[in-house]
Amino acid sequence: MIYISQVKNHKPIEERKAYPYNIPSIVNLNELGFRKSVTFITGENGLGKSTLIEAIAINAGFNPEGGGRNFNFRTQDSHSNLFSYLRLTRSAYREKDGFFLRAESFYNFASNLDELDAEPGLPPIKDYYGGKSLHEQSHGESFLALLVNRLYGNGLYIFDEPESALSISSQFKMLVRMKKLVDKNSQFIISTHSPFLLAYPDADIYVVSHTGFELVDYESTEQYRLMKYFVGNYQRFLLDLGFY
Ligand SMILES: Nc1ncnc2c1ncn2[C@@H]1O[C@H](COP(=O)(O)OP(=O)(O)OP(=O)(O)O)[C@@H](O)[C@H]1O
Ligand SMILES: [Mg+2]
Repeated sequence: MIYISQVKNHKPIEERKAYPYNIPSIVNLNELGFRKSVTFITGENGLGKSTLIEAIAINAGFNPEGGGRNFNFRTQDSHSNLFSYLRLTRSAYREKDGFFLRAESFYNFASNLDELDAEPGLPPIKDYYGGKSLHEQSHGESFLALLVNRLYGNGLYIFDEPESALSISSQFKMLVRMKKLVDKNSQFIISTHSPFLLAYPDADIYVVSHTGFELVDYESTEQYRLMKYFVGNYQRFLLDLGFY
């Protein structure tokens, strides 16, 4: 169980006008609960999902650039200062494993692993990732290798758009792997646009809008409704978009 709340009125005036406080969903955020084993954050592009996910991850002890808790590499300091105004409250239970996936920085993470593997005297870390450098695997292969070989349960896993690497059938594999990790006492917080991932049973789904974050049912999400309509009516849909 994780709750985040915003510490109000502590930020300097000039910070209140700039990123990330110029994002309406962030300004309107009071408290958000992550009560289920799986919580999704979804919604239109540019509304603040990655900004929020990153701030939660930093507050939970992860490197802003992604990776496990032991990773401490820096390529560029692009993270917002939102984390310093969020309070994260958690139940007494502390997880043993953890991973923060920032889709854009998976490449840097893979490079950092290679560098660690180059150091003599350490056990080969890549064994945890299927025995092959992540750079020698495709984007999707390396992410599946991470899910299957590196994550072992009792974990807090924070993923930003994990579907960007995955085919539809690999997303189904991801759902199966998530279930195994949830059965081993893990918690997921995932930002996604994927109608397939959102179908994870009994998950909380927050839809972000300019007014804040709202809990919705799977079948009320735009992802579900648009996909359903598109699959059954794609020719009509394309006609409406100006094709033919
Ligand atoms: N480093 C930054 N500096 C200034 N503005 C930023 C920065 N990063 C993001 N923004 C702006 O903040 C807003 C929210 O961005 P964010 O990446 O959190 O959106 P998102 O909901 O994750 O979108 P998407 O679905 O496209 O991933 C956007 O308008 C974006 O342009
Ligand atoms: Mg994003």
